[in-house]
Amino acid sequence: MRGPRQEASTAMNVLITGSSGLIGSEAVTFFDRLGFAVTGVDNNMRADFFGPQGDTTWNRQRLQATCSHFTHVDLDIRAREQMFHLFANNPFDLVIHAAAQPSHDLAARCPLDDFDVNAGGTLNLLEATRQHAPEAVFVYLSTNKVYGDGPNRVELTEHPTRWDYADPAYAQGIPETFPVDHCLHSLFGVSKLAGDLMAQEYGRYYGMNTGIFRGGCLTGPHHAGVELHGFLSYLTMVALQEGDYTVFGYGGKQVRDQIHSHDVIQALWSFAQDPRPGEVYNLGGGKENAASLLECVEAIGQRSGKRPQLTFSHESRIGDHICYYTDLSKLRSHYPDWELTYSFDQILDEMIEILGARIANS
Ligand SMILES: NC(=O)c1ccc[n+]([C@@H]2O[C@H](COP(=O)([O-])OP(=O)(O)OC[C@H]3O[C@@H](n4cnc5c(N)ncnc54)[C@H](O)[C@@H]3O)[C@@H](O)[C@H]2O)c1
Repeated sequence: MRGPRQEASTAMNVLITGSSGLIGSEAVTFFDRLGFAVTGVDNNMRADFFGPQGDTTWNRQRLQATCSHFTHVDLDIRAREQMFHLFANNPFDLVIHAAAQPSHDLAARCPLDDFDVNAGGTLNLLEATRQHAPEAVFVYLSTNKVYGDGPNRVELTEHPTRWDYADPAYAQGIPETFPVDHCLHSLFGVSKLAGDLMAQEYGRYYGMNTGIFRGGCLTGPHHAGVELHGFLSYLTMVALQEGDYTVFGYGGKQVRDQIHSHDVIQALWSFAQDPRPGEVYNLGGGKENAASLLECVEAIGQRSGKRPQLTFSHESRIGDHICYYTDLSKLRSHYPDWELTYSFDQILDEMIEILGARIANS
């Protein structure tokens, strides 16, 4: 069952959770520019998770200063009755659910909060949508960690500065059909997979317009990057200050694919205009935007003349991917108008410029 096509010219009422974070704030700006009424829910829990460096107050204030149709609501998505109340009083047409405990590594230190936010919070939102806005499009930001460390079992080739897939079946990257079980996920991978499956089920069982997007490395200058989350933003920040950076395992040759938050929102908007209930998409920078940690350091160094002081640890992060890039074929076939507009080089240029200015002003 396909939902009705929503024309961009029709004003929508949009709820964005995690609105002060990287993806949420990009979504707020995008829908505000379209003239849509935007409600953002964020309780700044990123500061609880990561400490002062994770504080997103600056980003909320930036949105409040620059967006005309944006209302911020300081709510915890775990607070079921309050979330239901919010839905009862607002006829949402579109829900972008981007609030999360987002760190693979941090989850082990706070398993209860991690699961309550990522799984329980998602269920609260899905059920509130079903009860109060069953026709709405519901987009869930999932993660490539739902595949656990399974991608590490793909045959790899070691190159001078990176790993790559040797198995031709994965020449274009990891597709949505990759297995999600019989592997080590981290607690984060499991809590996100619980939300991911629940969002799929609300699409398949209830016929709701849910879409699930499994992110690779989502990035952009409005990330409150910290060591445990926001890889490229944190690495760039450390490099520009010539600070210490520890590389955990794989000799720095581990590969990630980078996608700019702008291109993420374009993909979500493509789905929202032509939803396919319960569909799952992998969403990342793909093969063309894939780079190893060593290559990222080198590229930042060439542009800025600044490099971090690297320390190499032989211990890798538990369940960390050695090589991951996204096969974008399914997304491209369902939404042929969607394309990557930011190359890896453009992502870096913008990040160096904006983070450099932030450092200079601090
Ligand atoms: N950034 C990435 O590389 C990446 C990769 C894959 C998937 N994702 C997913 O994309 C989504 C957005 O990620 P992001 O990078 O923007 O994260 P982020 O941490 O920048 O933003 C998340 C926001 O949610 C808020 N939040 C957390 N718990 C909350 C709660 N209980 N109630 C209300 N607000 C709460 C935080 O304060 C934060 O502002 C997440 O679901 C994440 O798992 C991100």
